[in-house]
This record gives sequence, C-alpha cells and structure tokens, in this order.
Amino acid sequence: MTEPKKLFIKTYGCQMNVYDSERMVEALGGNGYTQVDSADKADMILLNTCHIREKAAEKVYSELGRLKELKDVNPDLKIGVAGCVAQAEGKEIMARAPVVDLIVGPQSYHRLPQMEKAVQRGERAVDTDFPEEDKFDTLNKRPRATRGPTAFLTVQEGCDKFCAFCVVPYTRGAEVSRPKERILREAADLVAAGVREITLLGQNVNAYHGHDEGLAGLIWELADIDGLERIRFTTSHPNDMDDELINAHATCEKLMPYLHLPVQSGSDKILKAMNRKHTRDDYFRLIDRIRGARPDLLLSGDFIVGFPGETDQDFEDTLDLIRQVNYGQAYSFKYSTRPGTPAAEKPQLPDDLMDDRLQELQALLTQQQRAAQDGMVGREVKVLFEKAGRMPGQMIGKSDYLHAVYVEAPTDVKGQVRTVRIVESSRNSLGGVLV
Ligand code: 5AD
Ligand code: SF4
Repeated sequence: MTEPKKLFIKTYGCQMNVYDSERMVEALGGNGYTQVDSADKADMILLNTCHIREKAAEKVYSELGRLKELKDVNPDLKIGVAGCVAQAEGKEIMARAPVVDLIVGPQSYHRLPQMEKAVQRGERAVDTDFPEEDKFDTLNKRPRATRGPTAFLTVQEGCDKFCAFCVVPYTRGAEVSRPKERILREAADLVAAGVREITLLGQNVNAYHGHDEGLAGLIWELADIDGLERIRFTTSHPNDMDDELINAHATCEKLMPYLHLPVQSGSDKILKAMNRKHTRDDYFRLIDRIRGARPDLLLSGDFIVGFPGETDQDFEDTLDLIRQVNYGQAYSFKYSTRPGTPAAEKPQLPDDLMDDRLQELQALLTQQQRAAQDGMVGREVKVLFEKAGRMPGQMIGKSDYLHAVYVEAPTDVKGQVRTVRIVESSRNSLGGVLV
C-alpha cells in the first residue's frame, strides 16, 4: 500500500469556510490524502481564505512567504489558495506568487481532485468559475467516520442583498439554495456518524428557498431525524425573518434559543446608506416579535463602526439601539473599504475616530455579554458535551445558549445532552455540575 499523502489546510474567516475546508479534505481523500495538523509534515498545503475585511490579500501573501521556506526544503510540496481571496484575486496571486500551484474558488472546489492531478503533472491550476453544476452533487457523500457531536451543514450560499460595504455578493455569488432532499440526506449521514447538533449555514440562511415552506419547513423536517438533538442556523438577515421561522423558535424543541441577527448600525441614515433596506424601528419590532415567541432567546449581532458619513449622532444611535436590544453575544468591526463595493467610492472616516468608536461600542457589548453569561449562574441548563477539558476529569460542552460550559464529568458524556447546574461564570465560559 502506498503511504497516504498529507494535506494541511489552514482556514480563515467564517463558519462556511470551516465547512468548505472539511469538504475539501473529503474531496482530496479520494486522491489519497489524509489531513494533518501541521504545515511542515504536509505534501500539500491549502489556505482557505477570507476576503471580508482589509488586509486579506496581504495576510495571504505573507503566509505564502513563510510557506516558500518549506517549499525550498521540500520542492515536491504543493501549495494552493482557496476561498474568497482566491475568488477575488486568484489571477494576481498566480502572477505575484510563483510558489502557488493551485487557485480554487469557493464554487469550484469539487474539481480539486482533477486539479490536484494536474498539479502533480507539474502544471499550475486555476479555477474560479461559478460552474453550472452544483459542487455538492459532485462531492462524495460525507463519510461515516466517527466525528465530533457537532457539525456545520451549508444549505444556502451567496447573497443578493448587496449591502454597500460587503464583498460577499461578488466572492460567493448570487443566492443559491440546496435542494432539501440533499440536505436531509447529508444530515442523516452526519447523525449516523455521531453528530447530535447541526448548524445550518448560509450567508443569508433565512432566505433559504429549497423547501416550499422556507427555512422553517427545512428545520421541521430535520427535527424529525431521530438522534439529532439540536438545530441552529446562521447568518440571518432581518428582512428574511418570516412568521414561520419565528414560530419555529416558539414551538420546535430542537431549535436552539439563539439567534444571530446582524443589524450593523442603529442609525436610519446609515442603514439607508448601507442599503440594508430596513429601519431601526423595523428591527425593534422584529426583535419584539421574536422575543414574544421565545422570551429566553439569546440574541447575537454584528456591528460596523465608521461607515462613511457616520456622525457622532449616528454612532450614538447605534449605542442606543444596543442598549435597548441587549445582546447576549456580538461581533463588531471597524469599517473596512472593499474595492469594488459601492461604499468604497465614498470618503473614509479617520482611523483614530473609528478606533475610539469601536472601543466604546465593544465596552458596551462586553458588558451585556458578561451580564447574560453571569445571569446563567444558579440556573439549570442543557449541555451537549463535545470534548475533554484541559484539567483531568473535566469535560466541555455548549449550552442551548451557546455558552461554553466546563463540568467535572466522566468521558462518556461526550455526545450526550445532560442537565447541568451553573455554579460559576468566568471570562469566556461557565462552570457547572451535572444534575
Ligand atoms: N467592513 C467591516 N465589516 C464588514 N463586514 C462585512 N463587510 C465589512 C466591511 N467592509 C462585517 C459585517 C458582517 C460580518 C460578517 O462582517 O458586520 O455582518
Ligand atoms: Fe454581505 Fe449584506 Fe449579504 Fe450579509 S446581507 S452577506 S452583509 S451583502
């Protein structure tokens, strides 16, 4: 038997890239590759890149500079760039970085097996098409190998919203939903391999239209799979939160009480300039309806500070929205100019002003996150155990609200959902005892 070839894949950015990386590993499995966790043992290295904010390409070039040293030692090493930087700047990367053997975009990585063969013949391979065929049709069924109790599953890709700051509609393309039959089959395979929690992924996941009854219809069918205990989904756009999905949060026990619903800004003027197509008031009313359906739901969001034209008052409006909504989790970013997006044409705000605003906004969000986490102390929550902790005898899992929870427990709780009483709240996690 020939030695398996070793593949090291480094993933940047969002959860969909994590999912894509898994599928790339599976795709190259057929060419005799197994995944390794270090670049210096590898026969092939793939960088699965993210283009959402500035310096994405610079990061890739500096990583390629480091990898060149490995290739100097091992000339047979193959290096590839995948993901959204490959999609947006693949041809320039090929021209600027001779060390790169392969460029593959997020919609064409099912062609990796043929591309790898071409690379082994000494060719350089580039594929950044948006092909007619569905990559998921070509990719193998996901293997039944044992795996952790949680998994991502892409159900929808791309975006038609064209927020003025965002590259996603250009790098991932137009909105496409996978047919529900394929998703249900993939979910059943995952559950048969030990998965207990599935997070449905899409750049605009709640715009999913592969089921007559939208994402809620898909969630209800997934909930019928025995052995699947938890369902989550991310990322949602406020304008696609329909009644059925809100209702599912009230009535579907397997759907977890956590929702990532980015608003980006609390200023009507900025929301309009961002092309978000809703007002702050629309968002407030929506949150009221969602909390009406599921009062304990933990809400998460994304915020951008320093969008072109943002005044002190606009920024105050964002802080005010955050105070009113009260987030249990949130991600916040300085506005970053993305070439080719409409906002890139507008005058930029000074960097130090953006830094100050980001700091103030993050202080407020951190305070809310801590309060939400501290509020769990004394409560009984359900935890799905995922792995052993650093301390002997300790196991780690996630609560329904996605808080990390550490518990002294036997290793066989892995993969089980157990009731835990929360006894302490530390910086980024909770400590509890099995009930
Ligand atoms: N600058 C800063 N943040 C951005 N995001 C997307 N594009 C940009 C940009 N140009 C943020 C948004 C989005 C999250 C995934 O990344 O908040 O919801
Ligand atoms: Fe980007 Fe807006 Fe689409 Fe989200 S909804 S992916 S922020 S364009």
